Amino acid sequence: MTFGIISAMTEELELLLKEMNIEEKTTKANMTFYKGTLGDKNIIAVVCGIGKVNAAICSQILISEYKVSSIINVGVAGGIGKDIYPGDVVIGTDLVEHDMDTSAFGDPVGQIPRLDTFSFKCDENLVKAALNAANEIKEINSFTGRIVSGDQFIANIDKIKWLSETFDAISCEMEGASIAHVCYLNNIPCVVIRSISDNANNGAHMDYEKFMPIAIRNSTTILKNMLKTL
Ligand code: ADE
Repeated sequence: MTFGIISAMTEELELLLKEMNIEEKTTKANMTFYKGTLGDKNIIAVVCGIGKVNAAICSQILISEYKVSSIINVGVAGGIGKDIYPGDVVIGTDLVEHDMDTSAFGDPVGQIPRLDTFSFKCDENLVKAALNAANEIKEINSFTGRIVSGDQFIANIDKIKWLSETFDAISCEMEGASIAHVCYLNNIPCVVIRSISDNANNGAHMDYEKFMPIAIRNSTTILKNMLKTL
């Protein structure tokens, strides 16, 4: 069993890489794939870059070339809703690409046209394992629910309201749904674990800088604890 671990940015993966026993480093599609182990688990860890295209390319390489058995996406995200604060952790139950819009043809916004699913589900066992790992750390509040992704940094209160009302989303980021989409097409289990860096409101870019370190610490801690149980 090999776990593919994707983060969008170097900062999001560096705590994990520090603890990983790295055996091999390979660059493909301008992305560095770190092959090695963490405890007794085989891992390929990679920084994919920001946005849905980078995340999709990276996921397909992990599946086709590294033959990973599942993909875990970790990093930071914007929180949606007044009860979710920076540092909290969200675990995706399913994901939607919020910027996909063929509503002119009568499709709901978010629906990939001609695909037999609206949202991309995370693997139930991986979600459970992530939630159990999160629940063991009393200082971290965790939530499960729908995460939406798009090629947009959300920093607007009206947009958050729209994401909440349209998708019933608890969090927004820029890669998770794309990773889950690729996993769906390849029938590979995945889970998205994100820690909140901001509330996607008008000051989001400032909160993002401030809370990023704690958010990364929290998502990495949960990932490490979760891997021990798999
Ligand atoms: N990642 C972290 N915060 C985000 C936000 N507000 N919008 C999109 N992606 C994010």
